[in-house]
Amino acid sequence: MGSGIAHVFARSGFHVLLADIAQPQLDAALTRIRNNLGREAAKGKLAPEAVEQSLARIQTTTDLTTLTAVQFVVEAASERFDLKADLFRTLDSILPPAAILATNTSSISITKLAAQTNRASQVIGMHFFNPVPVMALVEVIRGLQTSQTTCDAVHALALQLNKTPIEVNDSPGFVSNRILMPMINEAAFTVMEGVATPEAIDKVFQLGMAHPMGPLTLADFIGLDVCVDILRVLHSGHGDPKYRPCPLLMKMVDAGWLGRKSGRGFYTY
Ligand code: CAA
Repeated sequence: MGSGIAHVFARSGFHVLLADIAQPQLDAALTRIRNNLGREAAKGKLAPEAVEQSLARIQTTTDLTTLTAVQFVVEAASERFDLKADLFRTLDSILPPAAILATNTSSISITKLAAQTNRASQVIGMHFFNPVPVMALVEVIRGLQTSQTTCDAVHALALQLNKTPIEVNDSPGFVSNRILMPMINEAAFTVMEGVATPEAIDKVFQLGMAHPMGPLTLADFIGLDVCVDILRVLHSGHGDPKYRPCPLLMKMVDAGWLGRKSGRGFYTY
C-alpha cells in the first residue's frame, strides 16, 4: 500500500520521501508506481508528461534519520502493533515538532499508537484502500487525543489527493474492517465446511450483490496474512468470539498461501 500512497501524493503535486528497510522493496515500489502512472496516462486520466513529473517528486530512503524536515508522515508498515509502536517512537524523535504522524493501519488502535509519542494530538489514522490510486475512500480515524486541527488538516489533505474522507472514531477494525473482515471470515468458514467452492461463493457476491470481487478473491487481493492479522485485532480488541479467525485461513497462512502476492491463496495466480 505504501507505493500506492506515494503514487497518489506525488500525482497530486506533493514531494514524497518513500522509506523502507530494504532497497529492493523501494526499487520494486518505483517500478510499480511507474507502471500504474503509465496505465493512467494510457487511459487519458493523466497527462503523459505527468508520469515523469510525478516520479521526479519521489525520493527513496532506507534511513529514517533523513526525515528531519517532513511535515506529514503516512506509516504503512506491516500490521503488527509492536513494529508500528517502535516505528512511532523512532519517528517521534526525528520529525519536526509540528509534523503530523498518520498511520495507514487497517485495525490497530490509533489511541495506543499515539500514546507511544509525545505528540498524541498530532497522531491520526489515514486508512487508504487497495488499489490506492483507484479507490475513492480515505477512512480518517480520530484517536482519543487527536486534535480537531489534525483532523481538519487530514480532511483537507485527503480532498487534495482527490479522495473522499470519512471520519470515524477509534475502535478495533474501525468501520471498514469491522464489517468487511467478518464477511471474508464467514466465506472461509463456508469453504471449510464444504458448503460451496470459492468460485461459487465469489459468483454469489458478484452476481447477487454486485460486488466487483467476491469475498475470497478480495481476501487473496488483500493478503490472507493481513486478513488474519486484522481478525486477531478484532477478536482481542472486542473480546467477542464472533471474530475468531477461521482455522482454514490460519492454516493457509501457515502454509505460505498468502493470496495473490505469494502466487497461491483461495486461487492460483
Ligand atoms: N493503479 C492505477 N489504476 C489501477 C490500478 C492501479 N494499481 N489497478 C487498477 N487500476 C484501474 C484500471 O486501469 C481501470 O481503470 P478504468 O476503469 O479507467 O479502465 C480500473 O482501475 C479497473 O481496473 P481493471 O479494469 O484492470 O480491473 P477491474 O475492472 O476488475 O477492477 C478493481 C479492478 C478496481 C481492483 C476492482 O475489482 C475492485 O474495485 N475490487 C474491489 C477492491 C476493494 O474492495 N478494495 C478494498 C480492499 S480492502 C483494503 O484495501 C483495506 C484494508 O484495510 C484491508
